[in-house]
Amino acid sequence: MSKSAEVEVVLSHSERLPIVDVWLIIDVLRATTVMTSWFEAGGGDLYPAETIDEAVKLAAALKASGQSPVLMGERNAVAPEGFDLGNSPLDITRDLTSRYSCAVMATTNGTKALLKAASTGRPVFAACARNAFAALNIALSKGRRIGIFCSGRKGRPAWDDTLCAGLFISKLKEHFPETRYSDSARLALLTWQSASENAKPGVESSRLESSHFEHSVRTADHAVFLNKIGFYDDIAFASRVDSTDIVPELHEQPEGDGIRAVLRASRSVSPPVLQKESAAPSRLIPPRVTLPEVNGESRGGNYVFFPGKEYEKWHRNKSNPDEV
Ligand code: MLT
Repeated sequence: MSKSAEVEVVLSHSERLPIVDVWLIIDVLRATTVMTSWFEAGGGDLYPAETIDEAVKLAAALKASGQSPVLMGERNAVAPEGFDLGNSPLDITRDLTSRYSCAVMATTNGTKALLKAASTGRPVFAACARNAFAALNIALSKGRRIGIFCSGRKGRPAWDDTLCAGLFISKLKEHFPETRYSDSARLALLTWQSASENAKPGVESSRLESSHFEHSVRTADHAVFLNKIGFYDDIAFASRVDSTDIVPELHEQPEGDGIRAVLRASRSVSPPVLQKESAAPSRLIPPRVTLPEVNGESRGGNYVFFPGKEYEKWHRNKSNPDEV
């Protein structure tokens, strides 16, 4: 089997879509992370909607047909009026999915991108850092012209999604060295490489990849906004690279009751097209991170960057307050 593929990256949902064999939709903060979490928690069918109005009407139609949908999503990162839930993956629990038969979801960018890709008639999957390896495997089983569709932010490229696309391309590159990339794919790869410049492909554990990913993704405009309004832990959760093999797949629905498409958990591919490298822990390369200057003084130094709250705890409890 040839070890080559072609990768196109779309940087925001306002772009014209190229011809590809399969689409991986990325909205890492947080739509595709939430979609994946819904199925990780045992959720039933998930119906994406483009607008709030469409979502409300779809939920009502599903209720009228005997379903019990949870209406979830966001505008400006919080639950719209009348929704049961916002768009935090940390709210998606087994208790929640046990109380509803299905979900209707409308977000600012993620569900728009998903439905735009659905209109191409190609296989469409919801992808994020958490299911990166599994999503790549499934995409390669559908064809070798892979489209990575970054939802972006309000019709413009977003650091978080572009970084995640670069993570995907870096993983693909390790296994498919002859892969060809569009200019936007190369931009995405460079974005990830700038975030993981000390990482050595192939020896990284998912934990260390997560650390690089989280450190960089927190600098994204949307991450700074989410952090400001109290969703700090959503970013840590969304940064857990390869923490699940579940990949939601979009199924086109005949127009009826306003249902355009439905997401269901897809089956894993066997044998996998990409074989997961087992990282050799002894060869892990701790990332050398230089702290930003404070009041003109460099605080350069080497430390392994802990993801999320672990770092905050370490920082608070360290013995020497000047240690970095
Ligand atoms: C989006 O659609 O851009 C995201 O879902 C926004 C968010 O969750 O805050």
